[in-house]
Amino acid sequence: QRSLLGLKDLGKDEIESILDRAAYWEQHPNKVHTVMQGKFAANMFFENSTRTRFSFEVAEKRLGAEVLNFSAAVSSVQKGESIYDTVRTLESMGIDAGIIRLKPIGVLAELATKIKVPLINAGDGNNEHPTQALLDLYTMRKHFGSLNGLNVSIIGDVLHSRVARSNLYALRKFGANVSFCSPGNMKAEELDVPYVSMEEALKADVIMMLRVQLERHESGMLNSAESYREHFGLTVERAAKIAEHAIIMHPAPINRGVEIDDELVEHPQSRIFPQMENGVPIRMAVVERALS
Ligand code: CP
Repeated sequence: QRSLLGLKDLGKDEIESILDRAAYWEQHPNKVHTVMQGKFAANMFFENSTRTRFSFEVAEKRLGAEVLNFSAAVSSVQKGESIYDTVRTLESMGIDAGIIRLKPIGVLAELATKIKVPLINAGDGNNEHPTQALLDLYTMRKHFGSLNGLNVSIIGDVLHSRVARSNLYALRKFGANVSFCSPGNMKAEELDVPYVSMEEALKADVIMMLRVQLERHESGMLNSAESYREHFGLTVERAAKIAEHAIIMHPAPINRGVEIDDELVEHPQSRIFPQMENGVPIRMAVVERALS
């Protein structure tokens, strides 16, 4: 079974082999290969996406696979069909792997016990977003050479962040030191991670900003965008204090002027667009693993 449901239970060697295979694909930039010719991959997004959805599609097409794009908004989900029946329907038509993004937590793990084809988690609730963390690790490894001993600050709405969780699980396997910095009402209390002040967080090698996930907030969680930026935003003034070797990351989409200032998105120390670029070889490696 070549599913990828999360990084919490995936071994370090397995993660490393995905990163290495992504490096291979990055070094083989032919637009289209034929290795997965005749295989069918279905992208099933029950929650909105731009980067993940399209980079999976690009990755699948670059591998030579046939791609089916399912969109909940124009499907029989609108008539009340369940997630299980939807995935089972596509499986019965002969897909070889399913890439799934879901809002509710726990549904993907249950689906994986009932569906025979490999499933890839493209983000489930605030649980995990393994391919995002893989591309984040890949970006860090590319810049620093090694993840061992790296100090990574993850700043912002940790409570609602599957990106923070997957990064935490994976980075710790490689000996990186992870700290969180969050407003009091956006902490993930169940995770055993040190919380530090903004001043302390900015001393890290990697400054990873998180999106304020308004769509997952209960009403009143965010007092005001201005106040959030003042206390937890990466402002131009704060960015001037980070180390010269440090990099700025963000999974995107970005709330410009809230968690990060507009001018910093394409700052020389920012890796935000390179993260998106790295998403393609990472997803090629993950899809190839599932379809092989
Ligand atoms: N980073 C990320 O998952 O972006 P999308 O929601 O656009 O896929």
